[in-house]
Amino acid sequence: GLNMKKVTKAVIPAAGFGTRFLPFTKAMPKEMLPIVDTPTIEYIVREAMESGITEFLIIINEGKECIKTHFGRNEVLEKFLKSKNKDNELKIIEELPNKIKVSFTYQHEQLGLGHAVLCAKEFVNNEPFVLLLGDDVYVGNNKPATLQLLEAFDKTNSSILGTLEVPLDDVSKYGICEPAIKTNDRLVKLKSVIEKPKKENAPSNLAIGGRYILTPQIFKYLETQTKGAGGEIQLTDSILRLMAEEDVYSLTIDGTRYDIGSKKGFLKATIDFALNREDLCEDMKNILASYKNK
Ligand code: UTP
Repeated sequence: GLNMKKVTKAVIPAAGFGTRFLPFTKAMPKEMLPIVDTPTIEYIVREAMESGITEFLIIINEGKECIKTHFGRNEVLEKFLKSKNKDNELKIIEELPNKIKVSFTYQHEQLGLGHAVLCAKEFVNNEPFVLLLGDDVYVGNNKPATLQLLEAFDKTNSSILGTLEVPLDDVSKYGICEPAIKTNDRLVKLKSVIEKPKKENAPSNLAIGGRYILTPQIFKYLETQTKGAGGEIQLTDSILRLMAEEDVYSLTIDGTRYDIGSKKGFLKATIDFALNREDLCEDMKNILASYKNK
């Protein structure tokens, strides 16, 4: 259609306090937790970059300036690596600043995810955009999670929530989707969404897993959004209101999700990513084998 637009922008909220990962998060952002040797948020930026996104806005709070440092140039280090002929290391640190543009804004009060997304209004500038939460890492089967969503957006031209199926005992930790029809399709139109429902009130086990494509109409609702679950300004509540105006879909992501903001998710990611690395696979296997008889 006429209003079909290529999605080029991504927003990454990383302004939460990360209370599940204290004491680490007292002075360090959880988004900088390394999975093997790379900060969590770099995996997320690379997923979007490999899906064709070129412009990023990362929302931070005071004290998380090291995220800014990480995505900027380090000329002193570049010079040092050049002088030592460390070409591989040089490539690693120069790649992102050469390929993408990353800007930053502050969420000064931690009022909730909906409020954090509202801080991106100016950057988004009335275009559809990708939203990736700063502590959810995906390993897509065949395709990056963001590319799966973008391909679905090409078909629907509507907001799409990336989902995963969770055990019924876990629904109260997520935003949960109510599909409009019963279907086995991965892409489905939604009837409603609810943030952190009780198990007995959950309309399904389709949980929103930190990946979204949103139309800019969302900002109209975020601007007037009142507090919801947990006393926070919830994005899910604004998505529900958006549904009265336009279609919203969910797409079950084909891949594995790691919630790095939880200790268990972080530990599992460390092991899985090491096992998938040629340089570390044997070492990690030996480490794991050494626990077998303990
Ligand atoms: P989480 O609930 O996982 O993050 O929010 P949290 O509040 O930092 O961590 P816990 O639960 O206390 O351990 C999901 C995403 O939304 C961002 C977080 O940084 C995370 O990427 N967020 C949350 C904000 O940017 N601002 C907020 O006010 C709340």
